[in-house]
Amino acid sequence: MARNEDPPGAQKWVPSHVDDLGDLKAAAAQCEGCELYQNATQTVFGRGAADARIVFVGEQPGDVEDKQGLPFVGPAGRLLREAVDDAGIDPSSVYITNAVKHFRFELRGKRRIHQNPGPAHITACRPWLVSEFSLLKPELVVVLGATAAKALLGPSFRVTRSRGQLMPWPASAQHPEDFPVAEIQAVATIHPSAVLRADDRETAYRGLVDDLKVAQGALAG
Ligand code: URA
Ligand code: SF4
Repeated sequence: MARNEDPPGAQKWVPSHVDDLGDLKAAAAQCEGCELYQNATQTVFGRGAADARIVFVGEQPGDVEDKQGLPFVGPAGRLLREAVDDAGIDPSSVYITNAVKHFRFELRGKRRIHQNPGPAHITACRPWLVSEFSLLKPELVVVLGATAAKALLGPSFRVTRSRGQLMPWPASAQHPEDFPVAEIQAVATIHPSAVLRADDRETAYRGLVDDLKVAQGALAG
């Protein structure tokens, strides 16, 4: 996409001062930082504990999330909750959000078919992610799949090659200056939707749980 066609980005809608995540979520409901707000039902902001130790970052809301206004409430979310549980992570210590906060889809007849968000959407939506991290100050971020990896680590990061490894973050991001937040740790893993699509679902699921165990192990105490 040419520079002059880039969307304005979310920054304009991010309040200069917010007291809590509720304020941020309310502001994000008004966002028109890229064109995705036009066809989606609503902004799907993150949710979870304000004192969360781990932040999970997915891709974008899916069809079910778009209708309900909550992240990871569809099939991928069910699988993720099961994996979090199997990895021994306390679900009350988790906050979950997406790299892009509106559902991007293509209409085929009456069906809304998921489309990956593009680099311009990821960049446009990043200010919300930065604000979430600034308020939450978690100890660890779990990067779920390629889109979240593009958003948080840069386009050359390969989840398949580097999954399950602890990294300092945002130091490991391609442009750490995009994330003016305190240094924490990151672990990348596959997206739960990839487990649902896998031919060998058992093995894919075990891989996801193993990576989440690395995340769990990284939390002190
Ligand atoms: N997939 C995601 O990445 N996020 C959601 O909220 C739902 C499905
Ligand atoms: Fe704003 Fe992000 Fe929605 Fe685009 S996807 S309109 S930047 S909240």
